[in-house]
Amino acid sequence: MAETVSGRRFLFLALPLLAALGRGPAHAAAQELRHPPARIGVIGAGIGGTSAAYFLRQKFGKDVQIDVFERGEVGGRLATVNVEGRYYEAGGSIIHPLNLHMKHFVKELGLSVPHSQGGLLGIYSGDEFVFEESSWYVWNFFKLLWYYGLNPVRMYLWVEEILDKFMRIYRYQSHDYAFSSNEGLLHALGGADFLQMLNRTIDEAMQKAGFSQKFINQMVTPVMRVNYGQGANINSFVGAVSLAGADSGLWSIEGGNKLVCTGLLYASKAQLIPGTVISLEEKTLQKGRTGGTVKRYEVTYNSTSGLTTDLYDIILIATPLYRKIANITFRNFSPSIPEFSQPYHQTVATFVHGHINTTFFGYQDPSAFHLSGIFTMENPKLFINSIGVVSPVQDKMKELQGPPVWKVFSPQPLTKEQMDLLFSSYDSVEVKEWLAYPHYSPPEKCPPVVLHDRMYYLNSIEWVASAMEMSAISAKNAALLAYHRWYNKMDMIDQEDLHERLRTEL
Ligand SMILES: Cc1cc2nc3c(=O)[nH]c(=O)nc-3n(C[C@H](O)[C@H](O)[C@H](O)COP(=O)(O)OP(=O)(O)OC[C@H]3O[C@@H](n4cnc5c(N)ncnc54)[C@H](O)[C@@H]3O)c2cc1C
Ligand SMILES: *[C@@H]1O[C@H](CO)[C@@H](O)[C@H](O)[C@H]1NC(C)=O
Ligand SMILES: *[C@@H]1O[C@H](CO)[C@@H](O)[C@H](O)[C@H]1NC(C)=O
Ligand SMILES: *[C@@H]1O[C@H](CO)[C@@H](O)[C@H](O)[C@H]1NC(C)=O
Ligand SMILES: *[C@@H]1O[C@H](CO)[C@@H](O)[C@H](O)[C@H]1NC(C)=O
Repeated sequence: MAETVSGRRFLFLALPLLAALGRGPAHAAAQELRHPPARIGVIGAGIGGTSAAYFLRQKFGKDVQIDVFERGEVGGRLATVNVEGRYYEAGGSIIHPLNLHMKHFVKELGLSVPHSQGGLLGIYSGDEFVFEESSWYVWNFFKLLWYYGLNPVRMYLWVEEILDKFMRIYRYQSHDYAFSSNEGLLHALGGADFLQMLNRTIDEAMQKAGFSQKFINQMVTPVMRVNYGQGANINSFVGAVSLAGADSGLWSIEGGNKLVCTGLLYASKAQLIPGTVISLEEKTLQKGRTGGTVKRYEVTYNSTSGLTTDLYDIILIATPLYRKIANITFRNFSPSIPEFSQPYHQTVATFVHGHINTTFFGYQDPSAFHLSGIFTMENPKLFINSIGVVSPVQDKMKELQGPPVWKVFSPQPLTKEQMDLLFSSYDSVEVKEWLAYPHYSPPEKCPPVVLHDRMYYLNSIEWVASAMEMSAISAKNAALLAYHRWYNKMDMIDQEDLHERLRTEL
């Protein structure tokens, strides 16, 4: 055919062809993939999986069937516990005012966000309080200045600068741009500096930026311990996210954060399939009488009706692929899917209805103790990360009768002896053990996002930072990536200089 067209015209035709060839394996499948996918499977109904279902529906339209597999409860790490008839956030609890996807979901789903009152906070070294808030705001400000000089103000600006760059993701995503790796995503937000953050601890990064060691030990480490159960040796990106989590204006959802997940599932018109996914396998099927083949993913799952299999065009994995969390076997993949052995960190949340033992924290006179939250420094003799009064997810403002409910975070379940030290008296106790977030140990390398041609791994982003909003960002990225790769719109993936380009576009 080529000889019947003029040279120039040939060049025109050849260019897109060459470009397509350059894209590797996707090209071979391009012809077959022009039609919309029939079925998409999502594994996990936490905030990642349910927001993925929502974004997939937006991109792929109303005709595709979207199935969401869940072996436990919708919400995953967003869950509540019942203490004396009232419910409390047991997993992910606070949302930052600039978490725009979460904000959008709440608005879209008609959920409400009550104002929560903050109590007074103290930082405990294991021997004494190194800092205690008073109810007089101005006094706190001067105390901070006196103790730490300009460190607190500079920290605020330092986090703000990172947050500013991070916010670029919403612009990129609203223009439909996607990234095939989390390193690529980070680079597009803040260049090599952002990538470098995965290679440094928050301690190193803040030292380099001129913060005092005293400030890091007494203010930064305690915040890391309460948010991620680990000290200032976590990577500096998740460290900065954690510090942003100490901002003002944090919120949560009336009735429980998990309501976002059930709401998104409903809004996406996805089908929830209760069951445990056991294995995934790529299958090559004959396409009708005309010959030719088509590739599908076979999902094997265990439900009340026994072992079942189903075929999907596209798969999104929205759970950590750590064997102790989701033990999924990948069969007959070429190239094979690597083993993800980077561990998750255990954090135990203990809810106690009772009176705190103020003597344990050095207060002989209980009536002088006014703190409702205690953060802790690194100290081997401490068996808790933090302890604080929590409000129920409903009717926050309604006065509770009797003692408050305390939430204790610790690396191990508390023993009877430890409980008797922490509390002078208590009745109800509820314990929730989590493999809560990655066990960070920089330099961090994120697992791949593209596990196979049409199979995507959302929770890779947790190695950058684990948070509700991060899962939602990853979900939108995966939905966009799945869409662009399906329709071969490679110019929407891994674009350089998006920040500059989108700025000049408007
Ligand atoms: C104690 C604690 C406190 C936290 N605090 C905050 C906070 O204040 N703010 C914040 O933003 N984030 C917080 N986080 C982190 C946040 O909760 C998580 O990053 C987020 O909820 C992860 O959502 P996800 O959907 O990616 O994963 P998950 O919520 O873990 O969802 C995965 C789902 O997949 C299901 N699943 C797993 N394997 C299979 C299988 N084989 N078959 C079928 N289903 C399967 C699971 O049951 C689960 O429901 C906290 C986490 C914990 C544990
Ligand atoms: C981070 O460290 C890894 C090695 O662990 C290295 O390959 C990578 O280039 C480093 N990245 C940056 C931005 O320094
Ligand atoms: C499937 O679930 C049933 C009941 O929960 C259990 O007995 C069985 O061992 C499970 N099968 C597999 C392969 O996990
Ligand atoms: C994962 O499942 C395989 C069988 O599918 C089993 O042999 C293995 O013990 C399981 N691992 C864990 C950690 O549960
Ligand atoms: C409270 O803490 C003190 C000091 O650790 C301890 O001696 C005491 O046994 C604890 N319990 C009560 C009920 O006071």
